[in-house]
This record gives sequence, structure tokens and C-alpha cells, in this order.
Amino acid sequence: MKNATLHQLKVFEAVARHSSFTRAAEELFLTQPTVSMQVKQLSKAVGMPLFEQVGKRLYLTEAGKRLYATCQDVFERLSQFEISIADLKGLKQGSLRLSVVTTAKYVIPRLLGPFCQRYPGIDVSLTVTNHEYLLDNLGENRDDLYILSQPPDDMDVSIHPFLENPLVVIAWRNHPLVNEKQIPLKRIAEEPFIMREPGSGTRHAVQQLFDDHGLDLQVKLDLGSNEAIKQAIAGGLGISVLSVHTLALEGTNSQLAVLDVESFPIQRYWYVIYPSGKQLSLIAQTFFDYLLTEGKEVAEQTALINPTEFSSH
Ligand code: PGA
Repeated sequence: MKNATLHQLKVFEAVARHSSFTRAAEELFLTQPTVSMQVKQLSKAVGMPLFEQVGKRLYLTEAGKRLYATCQDVFERLSQFEISIADLKGLKQGSLRLSVVTTAKYVIPRLLGPFCQRYPGIDVSLTVTNHEYLLDNLGENRDDLYILSQPPDDMDVSIHPFLENPLVVIAWRNHPLVNEKQIPLKRIAEEPFIMREPGSGTRHAVQQLFDDHGLDLQVKLDLGSNEAIKQAIAGGLGISVLSVHTLALEGTNSQLAVLDVESFPIQRYWYVIYPSGKQLSLIAQTFFDYLLTEGKEVAEQTALINPTEFSSH
């Protein structure tokens, strides 16, 4: 392995994790021939093939599997080393890696603003993804902290609520139901409905409420983003249920309105979580403390509307 480089190991790790040269190339911003070449050189250094192609699928060989496990150890040790060095340097420099569910992207960047002003040497990497993918990241210990609304009950994690995240029914502002009070849930189930994609925590919560009431929603469209759903509502395609925070920057001219529906808002919270026993870096610990002590206040100060008021309609 004397001739192998760290870069080759990184490339190999990405190909093995995705079982795909193309996806690894996308993730690493490299071309596919470069990725293939790096893996080829690494196989040469190892002296054995690392992958085998069966039909369209790519499999790790036995040597590949052992190298993949070794890579994970090496990268984990390097990341621990980075943490210890960042701690030695105090909060002046270092990185903070966050994975947040899609609804939290309406709040977390606004919370990061004042935090990054306070600690300008910190680089932040923010991954925005849905509930299911976030749990994958958590399982693989890819980030420092994770923000979501539904903590997993089958993982050993440390869980801390820091902000309300109510889900509300949103319609086009000229929708006939806009001025009605205490609209029955059954009436909502009759409307064309726009739903988040499978794997979304929002979808899960909505589905559960309607299932609990024995009602079937008329789902006309599945969309993978809150913004796309807002556009579809404004385009008159239907109504939906989204986090009230998705309206935080709408302002008073918004095309959207919150309906007054029985059993709503669905009361939820955002939690910041991390694997129990994980040693947080000084930076992650400082951001964690900031979220818990100042998060709510900063979120309210930086919204163009008061989302909670919006929800009580
Ligand atoms: P989602 O999660 O982006 O997966 O819908 C949001 C949430 O659970 O609040």
C-alpha cells in the first residue's frame, strides 16, 4: 500500500458507499474516468481487484470489503484528530457539520447567521435532507449534530427539543375555505391534496393524523420539496400540510393562507440529536448550547412573520 494515496482512499470509499462510479464522481465533483483511474491505481497498489461488476451492479470483492472497513477506521481516526486539533485551537477555527430535515432549512440558516458572526473562523457544512436520509447520515455518523422532528426510537441517541414546529393546513389565499372556522377534518380529506414524498417526516405525521380519524386523503400530487408544494398550492393545484416555518419569509403579500382546521396545528418539535456517547467537538458543543439557549429567540426575531401567530389564524 506504500503507493496508495489518501485521495485514492477517499475516492474508493465513495464508490464503495454508493456502489456506483457515477454517483461517487458526482459527490466528489470529479469526472467518471478520473474516479475509475484512481480506483484502478489503488487496486494495483493492493495487488487485487476491489470491485466486481455483475450485470449492472457493482460489488465489493473480499479485498474491497476489507479495504472499505479500513477506510472507515482511517477516516474516523482522522476526523477525531481534526476535532482534537480544533479543540486545541479553541473556537477560532474548525468545522461544524449539520444534517437537518427539509423544514428546518427555513430556520437553521437564520440561526447560523449570528453564530457565525460570533465565531467567524468556523466553516459550516449544512446537509438538508428528508427524515429517512437524515437517519442514514446519523447511522453512518457522518455529521456532528442532527435536527429533526421525529427522533428514532430504535437508535441510541441523545435527544433535546429546542423549538416548536407546528404543521398547518395551507391553501391558496383565494381558496373558498380560507375564511371558514374550525373546518372539519373530513372536509379537508375531500380536497385535492399535495403530499410530500415517501420518507418525509411531514408526510408521516399527516398520514398518521388522517389514519387515526379513519379518513383517506385525495392525494393528487407527490412532491419532494416544501417550496415545490408552496408553488403548487399557489398554482391552485390543491392544499397541503406543511410546517408553519415554511411560511416564515412569506411576508404579508403571500399567495398562501393557513386554514383553520379541527385537530390542527399538529404540534411537533424540532430536536437536536446525536449518537449517545459521541464525543462532541468544542464547536459542536458550543452550537448545541446556543441552539438550546438562544435558538427560539433568534428564530422569532429573524422571521418576517410570527409563524406561531400565523398558525393560530
Ligand atoms: P421532512 O421532515 O423534511 O422529512 O418532511 C420534516 C419534519 O419531520 O419536520
